Amino acid sequence: MVRIADVARMANVSTATVSRVISNTGTVKKETAEKVLEAIKKLNYQPNMLARQLRRSETETILVVVPDITNTFFSAVLRGIESVAIENGYQVLLGDARNNVDTETSYLTILGQKKADGLILLTARTDQKILEELSHDYPVVLACEYYEGTQLPTVSIDNVSSARKATEYLISLKHKRIGHISGPLNVVVGRDRCKGFHQAMAKHGLSVDPSLVQEGEFSFESGFNLMMKFLSLEEPPTAIFAGNDEMAMGAVKAAKSKGVRVPEDLSVVGFDDIKFASIFEPALTTIAQPTFDMGQKAMHLLLKIINDEELEKNQFILSDKLIVRNSCKELTIDG
Ligand code: RIB
Repeated sequence: MVRIADVARMANVSTATVSRVISNTGTVKKETAEKVLEAIKKLNYQPNMLARQLRRSETETILVVVPDITNTFFSAVLRGIESVAIENGYQVLLGDARNNVDTETSYLTILGQKKADGLILLTARTDQKILEELSHDYPVVLACEYYEGTQLPTVSIDNVSSARKATEYLISLKHKRIGHISGPLNVVVGRDRCKGFHQAMAKHGLSVDPSLVQEGEFSFESGFNLMMKFLSLEEPPTAIFAGNDEMAMGAVKAAKSKGVRVPEDLSVVGFDDIKFASIFEPALTTIAQPTFDMGQKAMHLLLKIINDEELEKNQFILSDKLIVRNSCKELTIDG
């Protein structure tokens, strides 16, 4: 591959001068510019290669921003990203947004500062327009979270249908009074999982008691507190669909603290299939996301953008799976 340095060598000028001639910026003597253009022609230096080399900062580093580093779900996605990054000579810089939109947005400046060649966001809470504009100048890929109606390259599962599947599993076990501990509704996956829950209930002619839908924070603590709230109702739910595993585990802990047995008295389904889901007591029934594959796919897409290759499409929806373990039981009395 012909590089900018080859052009510079042949024209006997610096690479900065070659860049200035190509981009038509700065002052370059007429004779020097002619020498550079002649070298470009002789070496058949391609315009798209020129554009790429000008735009790339060539740090061989990519930035990944996660919404919450304490959620082990994201470590599995990171493994996938890093495996492809390393294979291709890139190192990964990690940013933890700490569930804070301003912190998330502030990480974007790293691209402008030329400290990374591209960005993978596992969180989509920054203003959509800001990110779309950024993607005109820098390689950007979204994974796990996404924006509605965007052309930004995205890798995720279909959270609505996954949530429907989780809820329908509880319905298949004859539960009717099903509660939902949702994720934050200002986060797209929180909203979509809540939507899937409502769709499944409606599809099976089951009404949703508004007091049985509570908004959590994707944290163990919020799952615990909201389950305590459900348990204080005159007629508590017989089953819970939680928007992620951490909240599901918090709900189980709350139930246990009140002497409510899982799954005998209460069925619980989570979402994510984090490592602890299978170790937890009882082992959690949950929706498994293809975390490693999502990470790998996101990094492959980012590499294509960095290398100016065309993407066959922009939206990639990977398959999820319901993993049935021991936290749910068929309802034997009329619930
Ligand atoms: O960001 C919190 C949640 O979103 C995670 O638990 C995982 O479900 C992700 O999609």
